[in-house]
Amino acid sequence: MSVILFDQSSAVATVTINRPDKLNALNADVLRHLWETLLGIQANADIRAVVITGAGSKAFVAGADITELHQNNEQTGRQFAEHGQRVFTLIENLGKPVIAAVNGFALGGGCELAMACHIRFASENAVFGQPEINLGIIPGYGGTQRLPRIVGTAKALELILSGDRIDAAEALRLGLVNRVLKQESLLNDSLAFASSLADKAPLALRACLEATQSSATSSLRDGLDIEARMFGATCGTEDFLEGTKAFLEKRQATFVGR
Ligand code: COA
Repeated sequence: MSVILFDQSSAVATVTINRPDKLNALNADVLRHLWETLLGIQANADIRAVVITGAGSKAFVAGADITELHQNNEQTGRQFAEHGQRVFTLIENLGKPVIAAVNGFALGGGCELAMACHIRFASENAVFGQPEINLGIIPGYGGTQRLPRIVGTAKALELILSGDRIDAAEALRLGLVNRVLKQESLLNDSLAFASSLADKAPLALRACLEATQSSATSSLRDGLDIEARMFGATCGTEDFLEGTKAFLEKRQATFVGR
């Protein structure tokens, strides 16, 4: 059985981390297959939105695999972190919306994986946290960088320094997740949302992702330049002509990604 399950239904791909007996902990095998799966999704123009979830009913991902993590020293530890960061940055820069359907524990690398996704929906039993401090290390797959960008430095530090876990309701209050849903409907609701995004103009979706994400690293001046450039680029697409024409003709637009 593969550690990564891939499913495609019309324009939406579902990627499932599949090590339920180890609460979907991320080992080298999972990261390698995840990387390859993501590259395939990126190259496939028929896929316009993605949902990432965990197998089973208990965990999204309970972190990096601690058995493998334990083997590290100072040199390999850095590479270990860089490798996971590369995979998660590919998610962030995939160019298509990625929704994390967080169906249980999202600890350490699991919380970091969810944060690399663009939207997070959580089940009521989801649990978030960065418990690395309890292992004598710091988050290494982006937690010290993405968590403060999402919830602010003060809350991020509270979570990272204490290693405390928070429930889905608290994650919603902090803005760490977009929605909390019943566990039975989490995947279907996530797929329905992904499908609604998949109907939109793909080049405009990509530009929305890039322009909005640039706000985390750009000055306002530079960010506005990026926005104007991308706005201009989308005005040059067939989909722009179709979207505006469909509005004027009072009909649904059909976008082709050109
Ligand atoms: N790495 C490797 N194995 C892990 C794991 C991880 N991050 N998280 C869970 N597992 C394994 C357990 O070792 C156990 O395996 P076993 O049945 O062969 O003993 C199995 O998954 C089930 O986990 P278990 O701890 O028995 O479940 P639980 O319900 O009692 O506790 C957690 C759930 C999530 C609270 C607990 O597993 C945990 O704290 N995991 C580590 C979280 C963490 O520190 N992540 C950050 C890593 S950087």
